[in-house]
Amino acid sequence: MHLFEIVGGNRLKGTVPISGAKNSALPIMAASVLVEDETILRNVPDLADVRQMQVLLSRLGVKVQRDAQGALHLRVEDEMNAHAEYELVSKMRASVCVMGPLLAKRKRAQVSMPGGCAIGSRPIDLHIEGLRALGADFELVNGDMLLRAKKLAGTDVFLGGPFGSSVTATANVMMAATLAEGQTVISSAACEPEITDLADFLNACGARISGQGTPQVTIDGVESLKGTEHRVIADRIEAGTYMVAAAITNGDLELEGARIEHMQAVVDRLRRVGVIVERGEKGIAVSSSRRLEPIEVTTQPYPGFPTDVQAQVMALLCLADGNSVITEKIFPDRFLHVGELNRMGARLRKEGPTVMVEGVKRLVGAQVMASDLRASAALIVAGLVAKGTTRVRRAYHIDRGYERIEEKLASVGANIRRLTE
Ligand code: EPZ
Repeated sequence: MHLFEIVGGNRLKGTVPISGAKNSALPIMAASVLVEDETILRNVPDLADVRQMQVLLSRLGVKVQRDAQGALHLRVEDEMNAHAEYELVSKMRASVCVMGPLLAKRKRAQVSMPGGCAIGSRPIDLHIEGLRALGADFELVNGDMLLRAKKLAGTDVFLGGPFGSSVTATANVMMAATLAEGQTVISSAACEPEITDLADFLNACGARISGQGTPQVTIDGVESLKGTEHRVIADRIEAGTYMVAAAITNGDLELEGARIEHMQAVVDRLRRVGVIVERGEKGIAVSSSRRLEPIEVTTQPYPGFPTDVQAQVMALLCLADGNSVITEKIFPDRFLHVGELNRMGARLRKEGPTVMVEGVKRLVGAQVMASDLRASAALIVAGLVAKGTTRVRRAYHIDRGYERIEEKLASVGANIRRLTE
């Protein structure tokens, strides 16, 4: 197993290339199941989760190859198998994104019910209700969700859950509706940029989707979808992570390719902390050279503050000049990083879905354990500024969602290396 060893204290300065968005690439790769011929995807990050989706798609008869320029070529060669098995789905929840495409194109989908994970119970009810509304028969058999439909009929679908909308449920219903008969209107649709990117890809394949990026998305079904070339958007969560890394080290970074229009909530909060964030000519320029102001942060569905940057901003606020409050409204249990940050000298107190952050003068390096993708990122970010050496174990969590993180950080001055345990 790998771990990251970080010696804190270096200010980060320079340019970091931001990779393509994991949470856009994964559903778009799944959408290749809907397409009659070749799909070419550019700017797809080389991540463990992307490789995992490649394995799943190949099991489903989709040939996936990465060419010398790094573009992914996907082509359906065999439609016999429509079963996404437990051993694959249990490794990556985003595997559920094949459910809508399989149902629409192959008239059946058998997908292992994803379990809970480190950030919460992760229910799947909105996906199932949405696809049933389109006409699918559903049954749960030995832990697998079995969906069948001779044909799908467009209808009104409401995707509002107790915590707002669902990103991947919106993706699943939208993908299935592209080949349904008639019009589907999704209300309380997720507005994340990754949904917009997926809809833009599907429209380039011949789908007829409008309203993407708003809470109401309309899909007029078509007969078939043809392959296209598509460039995946930049990863706003990776960019948010590097913004915090610049801020926490009083550094000065240019995040190449990052889209500030996708990050307004994060930019707003960091500016209130006292971080300087500006449009650069290549992306976003982030710098900080003063004490950090304490703030309040509450995570919300997009365009609100993203839950995927909650852990990272918590690490930053540990060093603010006063007390901050962080409330997690999407995954109320997403606080496994709290105990680990406290081991580094932070003063965090969890009260239900809220964490009180008492600012301290410094963090101290320690052996810490990653528990989920973004918690791991928060511990690395904390290690960049902690006094002494921090070792973040279970580096595989990071490799799921961050491309070459130690190279990118080292290239702007971090003292970080990957070790084998
Ligand atoms: C997507 O997960 C992202 N993953 C997550 O990023 C992200 O944290 C999450 O959206 C929220 O922004 C991908 O896009 C691959 P949800 P998803 O369905 O779609 C509840 C990362 O770190 N809910 O939008 O699975 C759910 O419990 C990952 O990159 C239901 O109640 O999240 C949560 O409280 C982690 N019923 C809320 O909705 C359902 O059927 C939002 O979940 C589905 C979800």
